[in-house]
Amino acid sequence: MRQFNDRTVVITGAASGIGLALARRGANEGMRLVLADIDGERLRVAAGELQVPPERAFARFGAVHLLCNNAGVALTHLAWEHSIADWEWVLGVNLWSVVYGVRHFMPRLLAQKEESHVVNTASAAGLLSTPGMAAYNVSKHGVVTLSETLYLELTAQKAQVGVSVLCPAWVPTNIHQSKRTRPQRYGVAKPASEAAQAYQARSDQAVKRGRLTADDMADAVFRAVAERRFYIVPHSKLMQAVRLRMDDIVETRNPTPLA
Ligand SMILES: NC(=O)c1ccc[n+]([C@@H]2O[C@H](COP(=O)([O-])OP(=O)(O)OC[C@H]3O[C@@H](n4cnc5c(N)ncnc54)[C@H](O)[C@@H]3O)[C@@H](O)[C@H]2O)c1
Repeated sequence: MRQFNDRTVVITGAASGIGLALARRGANEGMRLVLADIDGERLRVAAGELQVPPERAFARFGAVHLLCNNAGVALTHLAWEHSIADWEWVLGVNLWSVVYGVRHFMPRLLAQKEESHVVNTASAAGLLSTPGMAAYNVSKHGVVTLSETLYLELTAQKAQVGVSVLCPAWVPTNIHQSKRTRPQRYGVAKPASEAAQAYQARSDQAVKRGRLTADDMADAVFRAVAERRFYIVPHSKLMQAVRLRMDDIVETRNPTPLA
C-alpha cells in the first residue's frame, strides 16, 4: 500500500509508546486516525494533541486501510511463578487482541475490495526465548506464527490485503510500567522472586537505554507497508541471535543461552 493520504488507520495501544508514534506518523501522512487504548484518559490527551476524536472506523469512514494490532503488556516472572491470572492477562492483551483483530477485521478488509494492510506488533520475544518472560514470549511467538499463517493464506488467495509483523528489541516506551493498565479482575501480580527481579532489572535498563525510538519503529512500519514487506526487524543485531536459535533447532542442539 503506497498511498496513505486520506486512508484510514486503526491503531490499538495508541495512547503511548509505539502506538502513539504510529498515530503521529499516520497524522503526518494525512491519514484518518481511529485510536484505541485501555487508558482512556491518556488516549484523550494523545488524540487531543493530534486533533482527532477516537472513532468507530467502519461506521464513520466506511473502510479501513491500515490496521495496527499493537497493544501489549509485559511481565517478568520465572515460568512457574506466573499465576494463571498473569498468563490470562498477558496472553489476553498480546495474543487474543490480535486474534480478535484478525477475526473481526479480515472479512471486512477482504469485502471492501480496496488495498489494505495489517501490521501486528510482535517482538524480538516472538523470535527468541528470553528467560524471565515466559508468558510474554509465548504471546509474541503466537503473534508471529499467526501473522505468518495469515500472510500465506492471503498470498494464496491473491488478496489485496498485505500483512507485516513488527519485531522490535528494546525501545524506550512505558512498557516496563505495564502493570499500570492491569485490570483489577486479574488481581495484583505477586512480587517477583530474586531471580526474576534480576531479569526485570536487566530488561528495564535495556528498555530505558534502547537506541532506536518509537518514532524509528513507526518509520520502519510505514516503509515496510509501502514495500509490502512482511518481517519488520528494526534492530538488525538481533538477527545473530535469531540465526543461532534457528541453527540450534536445525542441528537439534540444546538452546544456546542468550548473551
Ligand atoms: N518497548 C519495547 O521495548 C518493545 C519491544 C518489543 C515489542 N514491543 C511491543 O510494542 C507494543 C507497544 O508497546 P510499547 O512499548 O509502546 O508500550 P507502552 O506501554 O508505552 O504502550 C502500550 C499501550 O498499550 C495499551 N494497552 C495495554 N493494555 C491494553 C488493552 N487491554 N487494550 C488496549 N490497550 C491496551 C497501554 O495503555 C499503552 O498505551 C506492545 O505490543 C509491546 O509488546 C515493545
